[in-house]
Amino acid sequence: MNNPAQKLTKPSSGPTEETVLEVQHYTDDLFRFKLTRPDAFRFRSGEFIMLGLMINEKPLLRAYSVASPAWDEELEFYSIKVKGGPLTSHLCHTEKGDKVLLGRKPVGTLVLDALTPAKRLYMISTGTGFAPFASLIRDPATYEMFEEVVVTHTCREVAELTYSKQVVEDTLNHEFLGEIAKGKLHYFDSVTREEHPRQGRITTLLEDDTVTNYFGFESLNPNTDRVMICGSTAMLNDTKAICEKRGFVEGANSAPADFVIERAFVG
Ligand code: A2P
Repeated sequence: MNNPAQKLTKPSSGPTEETVLEVQHYTDDLFRFKLTRPDAFRFRSGEFIMLGLMINEKPLLRAYSVASPAWDEELEFYSIKVKGGPLTSHLCHTEKGDKVLLGRKPVGTLVLDALTPAKRLYMISTGTGFAPFASLIRDPATYEMFEEVVVTHTCREVAELTYSKQVVEDTLNHEFLGEIAKGKLHYFDSVTREEHPRQGRITTLLEDDTVTNYFGFESLNPNTDRVMICGSTAMLNDTKAICEKRGFVEGANSAPADFVIERAFVG
């Protein structure tokens, strides 16, 4: 083959190098950042991607849920800062203009495609598990599929709710999304280790119907409701058990059903 244009070259499967556009710190342990989005990068709201930095001349990547919706030109991520953590202790020092590595293959089960249609969607999160829901509540497709959308966020302390509160508020005040989400998007926050109007683990508040009563909705049931769950492994297991006790069947991309959880999630 003399014509170089005819040469068969394998497309690169490694990460792309993206630029940090914005960083916002919420607490000593939590921050969000925005990255440039490559033209070829396609994902479904709720999916996660490998993301990281070159550390000691080697790429170090971890799974991160994309917190921005699929239509957005920029990519947003919400992260914890683990003191001494191999990636986040470096990532938390990134500033505007720095480079971050972004994987090419978004995947995940916290997607609308993995659920069958119903009246209401409950998105249940603890800690940085709110990230995929920050994406889904800003996607008009969520409101096309469900009449009511409830997003819950439970943290140890009140300050850790700042990001979710802000995303919900911005969504409701957004020029176009606000029109779609108003009256449909419902936010429930609770705190476990500080004074707050709503206190307790989300598992307790779901089991005793505190969450559904708060909005005047009937008890969680698979005839009308669908559930997405994101948080620590213990929280996932306990919330999944509540759903299964109430007759919900776990769904997947290949077999949509009543509820989904994200096992690969890392804050
Ligand atoms: P708690 O303060 O009672 O442990 P973490 O930062 O450890 O991931 O916790 C985030 C939130 O998730 C905290 O409010 C914590 O409550 C709660 N949590 C931890 N484990 C569970 C569980 N198994 N089920 C429900 N909520 C949990």
